Amino acid sequence: MENIAYEKMNIQWFPGHMTKAQRMIEENLKMVDAVCEILDARIPGASRNPDIDRLAGDKPRLVILNRIDLADPEITARWKKYFEGRGLSVLETDAKSGKGVNSFVPAVKKLLDEKLRSYEAKGQVGRPLRVMILGIPNVGKSTFINKVAKRKAAAAGDKPGVTRGKQWINIDRSLDLLDTPGILWPKFDSQEVGELLAITNAIKSDVLDKESLGANFMLRLRSMYPQALIQRYKFEPDPEANGFELLEQAAKKRGFLISKGEYDIERMANTLLGEYHDGKLGRLSLEEPDERAVDA
Ligand code: G4P
Repeated sequence: MENIAYEKMNIQWFPGHMTKAQRMIEENLKMVDAVCEILDARIPGASRNPDIDRLAGDKPRLVILNRIDLADPEITARWKKYFEGRGLSVLETDAKSGKGVNSFVPAVKKLLDEKLRSYEAKGQVGRPLRVMILGIPNVGKSTFINKVAKRKAAAAGDKPGVTRGKQWINIDRSLDLLDTPGILWPKFDSQEVGELLAITNAIKSDVLDKESLGANFMLRLRSMYPQALIQRYKFEPDPEANGFELLEQAAKKRGFLISKGEYDIERMANTLLGEYHDGKLGRLSLEEPDERAVDA
């Protein structure tokens, strides 16, 4: 993506949650056979805890790219390849409708085929496989688990930031999931990551300056998906304009007038973020994999 002079935003995060999350993962890791990370397919990098490779150790791993209904299919396919190239199994899901979720149990069994056989060889027939489900708040963990379990086993739709206790969820005779609600806090020291999390509702947006967030989101859209702006808001984004001016261009088209010649930019920012959330701008991903990057 081109380098853009974004508005500076003050996004705070709480390191205490990170430490707690790490402790929880370390404590429970010995009880599970595999680790499954749920990511937002629109921002797989930003919605991932960068410490996960270290924390998960050498447990077999599965990555769920969730919210594919809102993500750009071409970019999601590239992320899938990217993670597979790093030895992870990948599934694409829309947990809300249930699309792709049925592939989860077979994928776990395939991933842990060797483990299953070693249990059998030791005479531990019938010992269920155990998988830890991890993901940042609001990424869709509960929705996903409930679809896999085919019942309301986990509480979905809580406000971001609400921490609940862990729980085991029995799926069938051969599989248990460890739900770790809201504990895998994202780690970010860059404005970029914080902003992507705010745009996708992983961070409570009422603690943010919505206008600046909307302005920066406009700049991203002009750079990555100008067509979406043209189609949805019926304006050709001025290549020289800053984010606030782009919001104003859109507000004019929407008729968000405050007084003569003055447009309601805040309302436009809220509209833009809300419509992105609802998928009204189309299927737009905000992060691309860096296919050239080689892990150290
Ligand atoms: P969490 O346990 O990880 O915190 O997340 P949770 O399942 O509670 O899901 C958070 C929100 O995301 C829920 O919406 C849920 O319906 C939505 N969601 C989960 N998976 C998907 C998906 O694949 N696609 C789409 N489009 N949405 C998904 P909500 O807070 O109840 O309301 P709303 O966001 O739907 O307005």
